[in-house]
Amino acid sequence: MSRLLEVAGLTKNYHDSPTSEDILKNLQLSVEEGEFLCILGPSGCGKTTLIRCIAGFEDYEGSIRVDGNVVDKPGTDRIMVFQDFNQLFPWKTVKKNIQYPLKRNGIRDKNELDRITSEHLEMVGLSEYGDFYPHQLSGGMKQRVAIAKGLALNPRIILMDEPFASLDAMTRNKLQAELWRIKEKENATVIFITHNIQEALVLGTRILLLSKQGKIKIDIKNEIPKPVTPASEGYGNMWETLNASLWEEDQA
Ligand SMILES: Nc1ncnc2c1ncn2[C@@H]1O[C@H](COP(=O)(O)OP(=O)(O)O)[C@@H](O)[C@H]1O
Ligand SMILES: [Mg+2]
Repeated sequence: MSRLLEVAGLTKNYHDSPTSEDILKNLQLSVEEGEFLCILGPSGCGKTTLIRCIAGFEDYEGSIRVDGNVVDKPGTDRIMVFQDFNQLFPWKTVKKNIQYPLKRNGIRDKNELDRITSEHLEMVGLSEYGDFYPHQLSGGMKQRVAIAKGLALNPRIILMDEPFASLDAMTRNKLQAELWRIKEKENATVIFITHNIQEALVLGTRILLLSKQGKIKIDIKNEIPKPVTPASEGYGNMWETLNASLWEEDQA
C-alpha cells in the first residue's frame, strides 16, 4: 500500500460568519491506496467542507496532495458523489449523462464511449437502463448512475458525501453491498461521509470521528470481516464506542 492522499495543516475559513471562526483547523490526514475511509461527526463539524476541499471545490490553507500532486482545482482523479438525487442532467439519457464528462475529458471515439458506458452500467446493475431519462428512475437508481458516471472517469479517489442518506433502508443496504463489491473489484480508494454508525461499520476499513473544527477524535481500523452485520464479532463494541463519542460531541 502506498500513500495516496496527504492532507497537512489544512485550515479552512469561509470568512463570512460574524465570528469568522475556522471551520477546519490544522487538520492532518493521510489515506492509503485501497482504504475505505468512513467519516462520522456531528452536523456542522466540517465533514462536507473537508471533502469539498479534497475535491478541489474550495480554496484552503495548508496542503492537500493526491499522488504527490497539489490539489488546487477539481480533477478526474477525484470524483464526488453527493446525497442529492439530482446530480444528473434531466434532459440527457443515462448513457449520455455518463458520456458527457468522458467527452469533456477528450474521449471522442464512439465505440470507446459505448464500451466504457456499458462496462460501468453493468457494474452498477443498470445495463438495461442506458436509454432511460433520470425522471424514469428511482432515487436508488439515480445514485447508481451517479456512481457509474464517476467510476467511468477512472478516478484515484471516490469522494462520497452521504450518498445513501436519502434512500430507504432496503435500497440503502443493497447499494452498500454493491459499493463494497465494486470497491473490492476495482481496489478503489473511497472517502465516505455518513451520519450512520452502522453504515460506517458495514463499509469502512477505517473510521474517523470528527469533532468541532474537524478535529480528529477517533481514528480506528475496522477489521471486522465483510460482510459486516450487527451479529459480527466486535460490532457491538465498536458501535458503542462510536455512539458514545458522537453523543458526547452532539451535547458539546
Ligand atoms: N459555503 C459556505 N459558506 C459559509 N459557511 C459555510 C459554507 N459551507 C459550510 N459552512 C459552514 O461551515 C460549517 C461546517 O459545515 P459543513 O462542512 O457542511 O459541516 P457538516 O458536513 O459536517 O455538517 C458550518 O458551520 C456551516 O455553516
Ligand atoms: Mg455535510
